[in-house]
Amino acid sequence: NRALLSMEDISLEDIELVLECASEMKERVLNEDESLLTIAPNKILGCIFYEPSTRTCSSFQAAMQRLGGKLISITDVQSSSVSKGETLDDTIRCLAQYCDAVCIRHPTKGAAKQAAIAAQVSKGGGKKKKEEFFLKKDNVPVINAGDGSGEHPTQVLLDLFTMFEYNERHRIDNLTMTFIDLKYRRTAHSLVPALFKFRNIKVHLVSPKFLAFPDELKNKLIEDERIKKHNNTIIESKEITQTILQTTDVMYVTRIQKERFSDSSVYEKFKGVYVIDNSLLNKCKPTMILMHPLPRVDEIATECDDNPRSKYFQQMKCGMYVRMALLALILGNH
Ligand code: CP
Repeated sequence: NRALLSMEDISLEDIELVLECASEMKERVLNEDESLLTIAPNKILGCIFYEPSTRTCSSFQAAMQRLGGKLISITDVQSSSVSKGETLDDTIRCLAQYCDAVCIRHPTKGAAKQAAIAAQVSKGGGKKKKEEFFLKKDNVPVINAGDGSGEHPTQVLLDLFTMFEYNERHRIDNLTMTFIDLKYRRTAHSLVPALFKFRNIKVHLVSPKFLAFPDELKNKLIEDERIKKHNNTIIESKEITQTILQTTDVMYVTRIQKERFSDSSVYEKFKGVYVIDNSLLNKCKPTMILMHPLPRVDEIATECDDNPRSKYFQQMKCGMYVRMALLALILGNH
């Protein structure tokens, strides 16, 4: 039983295990394999979402039910005792009494780690040091379903699975990847380091200067000796250049997250700065895949939905297979 809090804690071997298990889950779902229901019977997943979610929340719920497990869901925290002022720690301590694992989304960076500590304390044994809890065997594992501008590790794993499934070579090395819009994107912040666990990855980071990938994260990657050894590179630009269009294998577009801007006039200035439409997509390689974690606002025109390069709806489905794999590995007799 392991918590899943940050991609930093996940090795290449762990990623490969999750991808392999997700492929198996996909196969078994498509074959309507009823024995899936025997993977986590009598297990209960607690889902608490302090921030809105459609995909993450519903795919965790679908995944748990497809494995034969059950759910306690708090998706409207204002209908819970949070509205009476109950703290995050006490709320998690409560769920940890009833559930075998807890999945949490929260607007504050670090909230999932805090929840992992609270989930442990609830089982008795007094207070322990923070470091003792992370990725150690846990009584009540906590899964980070997005903590503000921090991380969204299950999104990263489903993104990697989508790339594995839909890029023509079914491999995640030797890929050229382009990210559009970056500053507040926890997905990009975790996906780039995760990709760099693989080899020969070229990453283009495209954004206006104001929305650039944080320098601190970028420099950490550039200076990492393992990344140099893997022959991975980062190239920044403000525009989607011809070279990018002609060489990209995976284009990853994100929403400029309005909710992360303290000044809405700044958001208004940058929204719509890059819009992907069919005229742009058709200049890309026919094998290029277009991904987006969704929800989108206007950064991908709906005319692209039927373009064979667009894989963002398939990406959502991959989310269910990956969450089935994670729950099976964390909770199930798999
Ligand atoms: N991609 C993603 O996390 O979507 P939701 O916010 O709908 O869960």
